[in-house]
Amino acid sequence: MHKDCERIMLTEDQLRARVKEVALQVDEIYKDKRPLVVGILKGSIIFYSDFIRFLTMHVELDFMAVSSYGSGAVSSGKLNIKKDLDRDVAGRDVIIVEDIIDSGFTLANLKALLTERGAASVMIVTLLNKKDRREYDIAPDYNCFDIENEFVVGYGLDYNEQYRSLPYIGILKRSVYEK
Ligand code: PRP
Repeated sequence: MHKDCERIMLTEDQLRARVKEVALQVDEIYKDKRPLVVGILKGSIIFYSDFIRFLTMHVELDFMAVSSYGSGAVSSGKLNIKKDLDRDVAGRDVIIVEDIIDSGFTLANLKALLTERGAASVMIVTLLNKKDRREYDIAPDYNCFDIENEFVVGYGLDYNEQYRSLPYIGILKRSVYEK
């Protein structure tokens, strides 16, 4: 375990098993379709790459990078799009793949945006759900793990751009982010 982690919350085995379970459920729903699978950079990259490898349906891949400056007390109510999709989503079935839903600001705004652009459907798949932190009226259609309000890193999630490449989800020591 990395020295900056207090403990491992989700092991590689737990992640693999649950991501597979959820991916197979999603696969069943879209088996005759050709959805656009949209990864939200950067946190979702490892979850995204594991998730799509369990899918048997024909998928197209695309990515967006957004920032959630608007969440919390200083909500601007506006999503900042840093990188937009390469493809037009009009008429497409879209699956948004996200690492974590916290306040819900990012996904509430993204879903509204893609719906406004004419997507035929928008499904939200998340790795982690911090239900108690929700401020916006949005819920994932599929979620791998409900978690408490802990500072988690690894498997794509960062603190100051560190720890994303850890293969497990760890809880960061307080001393790391409180110093
Ligand atoms: C994180 C995460 C979600 C968002 C969730 O992204 O990946 O996009 O915050 O929070 P919310 O529900 O309160 O909107 P972050 O801005 O940390 O960027 P990153 O994915 O590049 O790490």
